[in-house]
Amino acid sequence: MDRYAVIGNPISHSLSPYIHRRFAEGSGEGIAYEALLAPLDGFRACVERFFAEGGRGANVTLPFKVEAFELAHHATQRARLAGAANWLGREGDRTRADNTDGAGLVGDLERNAGVHLHGTRVLLLGAGGAARGVIAPLLVAGVARVTLANRTLARAEDLARHFAPLGEVRACELRSIPESRYDLVVNATSTSTHGEALALPGWLFGPGVLAYDMAYGEKARGFVASARAGGARACDGLGMLVEQAAESFELWRGVRPLTAPVLAELRARFP
Ligand code: ATR
Repeated sequence: MDRYAVIGNPISHSLSPYIHRRFAEGSGEGIAYEALLAPLDGFRACVERFFAEGGRGANVTLPFKVEAFELAHHATQRARLAGAANWLGREGDRTRADNTDGAGLVGDLERNAGVHLHGTRVLLLGAGGAARGVIAPLLVAGVARVTLANRTLARAEDLARHFAPLGEVRACELRSIPESRYDLVVNATSTSTHGEALALPGWLFGPGVLAYDMAYGEKARGFVASARAGGARACDGLGMLVEQAAESFELWRGVRPLTAPVLAELRARFP
């Protein structure tokens, strides 16, 4: 059986093995998919051993996405724009890198949340790796504008400059978000993951706004609850996780798996 893996640290919590096994069952593809814990200073060695032992491809999660991008011999344009990779494939002795996170977000918004991204005004909270990975795919999907709000203004300004050739990207400080109408508010800060509160202005959320947290389950609950309390529709990032996995699976296997049944199963576990 062809071997695949997700590599990270920590990794025991990862849902990727479950998702890919369900995709394999649903599509009739015979694959094995495991979770590998790489030491913090041993990611490259872990990847090399996995491929030397016949591994066909790997997903990469925190904190190794930048390292994954850097070790690859070839990277797709979207991985280069993100400066990070969550997907590795092997051709002979050459490693290829891609980044399916942004496609996962766009896919979840358009397919599962019923959002038509074209022309929407997006407020993206955060300017770290998670934010960087989704800006280009949002712009390519036709959003009217991305406003990057970050605690540290300089990081948002750097990203805005980086992505300016692709569309309208503005930067501001998280504590002074310009009062305006944002159709979609995406939390790409690490606050949910770290269980920290994110103070946001009350006018941000209201009817017709979709608030989206890239974290999922219990961790996203605070952000989702405050958006709903303000009258917005809100969802967590579970669908993004499943959609980025589907994109990864298709890149390796040439078969697009059905995501809806797997997402429904996981939703029952993470209501
Ligand atoms: P990730 O890869 O998850 O994006 P990261 O690159 O460390 O992680 O970025 C974390 C993001 O969350 C940053 O935008 C960070 O803001 P700073 O650039 O100012 O550090 C943001 N962040 C983390 N803790 C935060 C907090 N308590 N309030 C607001 N933003 C926070």
